[in-house]
Formats: sequence, C-alpha cells, structure tokens
Amino acid sequence: MSSNSVFKNSQEVINQEASSIAKTFNRQPVVWVKGEGSRLWDKEGKSYLDFFSGHAVMDLGYNHPAQMAAMQAQLQALPHTGNLYYTEPQVELAKRLAEASFGDKVMFSNSGAEIIELAIKLARKWAKRERPDEKRYEIITMKGSFHGRTYGALTATAQEKYHKGIEPMLPGFKYVPFNNFVAVASGITNQTCAIMVEPVQGEGGLMPADKKYLQSLRTLCDQNHLLLIFDEIQCGLGRLGTRHAYEWFGVTPDVMLVAKPLGGGLPISALVTRADVATALQVGDHGSTFGGNPVAAAAGCVLLEELSKPGFLDQVRATGEYLAAKLGELAAQHPNLVKEVRGAGLMLGMELKHSGPEAVRQALQKGLVINCTAGHVLRLLPPLIIGKPEVDEACLILKQVFEALERAKEE
Ligand SMILES: Cc1ncc(COP(=O)(O)O)c(C=O)c1O
Repeated sequence: MSSNSVFKNSQEVINQEASSIAKTFNRQPVVWVKGEGSRLWDKEGKSYLDFFSGHAVMDLGYNHPAQMAAMQAQLQALPHTGNLYYTEPQVELAKRLAEASFGDKVMFSNSGAEIIELAIKLARKWAKRERPDEKRYEIITMKGSFHGRTYGALTATAQEKYHKGIEPMLPGFKYVPFNNFVAVASGITNQTCAIMVEPVQGEGGLMPADKKYLQSLRTLCDQNHLLLIFDEIQCGLGRLGTRHAYEWFGVTPDVMLVAKPLGGGLPISALVTRADVATALQVGDHGSTFGGNPVAAAAGCVLLEELSKPGFLDQVRATGEYLAAKLGELAAQHPNLVKEVRGAGLMLGMELKHSGPEAVRQALQKGLVINCTAGHVLRLLPPLIIGKPEVDEACLILKQVFEALERAKEE
C-alpha cells in the first residue's frame, strides 16, 4: 500500500477505527491494502484467498485489466457530470442491460437500497395509473428477505431484528413466509400492487426459491395484474451461472434490480423493466446526483461484456458445481457440524449446527475470507473468475477449520 500511510501497522488502524468510527459493524481484525485476481493482501503483506468478494461485488476479481483500464480512462476523462446531461458510459450500460435481459428501459441509482426505493415508487405509481379508482400501494415481501437499509427498503425487509428500535416502519408492506405460495396468494387484497422477492435470499441464509414457487408467483401476478419484482442485487449478474438470476429459474419478472458487482467496486445500481411499466414514472419522479456515474458505468459495461463472452458463464456453473460437490464431501465428513449445503452457482451456503462466526475467524487466520450470515450459515461468494485450484485451496482450509472446531467441541 502507499508508503506514505499514516499508520505503521494494522493494529494502529484498528485502534484508530475504534476511537474515530462509531461502532455499527463487527469487523474482522484485518486491514486490506491490495487485491489482485481472487486474492487480497493485508497491511503486513500476508495474502488471502477471497471467497466473499466484498459482499458479492468483485465479480471479475481485483485489478481486472479491462475493467481497470475502462475505469481509469473514464476517471481521467470525466469523473462526473450529473444527470442533467448525457454521458456515453451510462447510455451504453443501459443499452447493454436492456439487450441482455427481458427489459427495454433502465433507471440508475447508487446502491441496492436506493434502487429498491425506486422500485417501490414505480410499483405504486404503476398501480395508480393502471387502476386509478383503487387504492393499491401494498407490496408483499418475504420473511427472511433483505432489501437494504433505507426506510422503504428496510420496511420491505421482513426481518424483525432490523426494525427493532427504529419503528414505526412505513405503511404499505405485508410479510409472508418465503417459498410458500399459498401464503402469498392469500395475502393479496384490493390494496396489493406488487410482489417483491429475492430469487436466492442472501442475508436470509442462502435460501434459493423453488422454481415452481417463482413460476406460480408469475401466474399470480398475471392473474391479479400485479408487478413481480426480483431483487437480484446479490444473486444476479452472473452469480448463479446465468447472466441474470431470473434465467436460472426460468421465470421473467416485470422489474429486475441489480447493483453490487455492476460498478466493479464503485457504487451503482439499476432497475430494469419493460417500456410499458417504465412509463409509470415521468420526468421529476426519479433523481440522483450520482446515479449512473460514468466511471461506475464504464466498469459495468466491461462486466456485461465479460459475462457475455463464450464460456464465461459455463465456467461459473462448472466451478459452482465443483465447489458444491466438495462442500458436500466436507458435510458428509462432518455430520455433527454441518447441517446443509445449499445455493446455486457461486452463491453457496453451508449451514453449521454451531460455531459459524468462529469458523469465519479461523478461516481468516488460515488465509481464507468467507462470511457468516443468519446465525451459522457460512456464505461463499467468490469472484466469478476462480477455478478448481482456488476451490481446492479453500476446501482444504475449511477442512482444517472443521477438524479444529470438532476437536474443540470434544475437549
Ligand atoms: C438482496 C439485497 N438487496 C438489497 C441490498 C442492499 O444493497 P446496498 O447495501 O447496496 O444498499 C442487499 C445488500 O446486501 C442485498 O443483498
């Protein structure tokens, strides 16, 4: 890292963080200074294999040559103009997103949460336009979901722990159990305007939706003239081994939301929809100083180009299957520790019976970056560029961690 760093070592950074930054995160005790491909380096020069990608963001790995070149060129030429003017990367990214999906029109924002907000507004405006005599504003969301930290997105997030202490939440949301079609069907009233679902719940513990369930939601929305919104912010853009998550399930939504990996590490998010739905929003209904920033958009264009290269997604699927099989072997060797392996593509979860956070800590010490969500579910979200050697390396470390955890349990 920069030789002019004000901090002598990692511990100094960690100590300063504790005194300068309010504590809202449980951070791992590591200071990242460099990334290359699927590897990260800490301030002391130790290298780690990254199976988390900064929360499913670094899909092409760190320092991807084409993505870096595009970002650097745009940064030098023009980092920002705002949305009262045109920039080429934003328009090109919209074109690519629409061409590579069911959509015709795209709207941009900065983060996952902000694009959820836009989807909420779009659904309500669309319902008002479609049925002006009715009062339809309610969105049905799924228990265990996660949609972001702004008030609308957080209210859509059907997990009580995120609402605790900040109530009242916003009106206009109904929560039903995930993967339960009957609950959704019976939750529809003359106030419902949309159903929003993550095809694979990420924060909720790597829970894939059943294909049949999503297909039935599609039919339900058609029959009741409701919008079907897929939050693909974590599971989209190649993560499942298809360009979009909806393709993996064979179910086309009316609105798709993407974010995390779109900007190659810079914040950008997009809502993709059909032209007939997009027209429910008019000039003045959406705005953002930074949304669709040209540097982030230039990174997004490279990501979409890479995803569409022959063999790229086949490789993601093959590596995902190989990883899932190796995790399955580990699970079979440790039945007292591992409850289940689940997920799709390179979005895999391993539910432990205990010691999830401890497994993450020990893996990090041994040079593997993973995460734990929903209590004890180990979450593996490696960059999409990894291959079998990285999978073997990660699984060897996990094996050592699991053996150590079982030994400790016996003592
Ligand atoms: C499925 C899903 N939706 C929305 C969000 C919110 O995204 P952001 O943190 O960029 O606001 C996340 C973040 O983890 C997510 O996983």
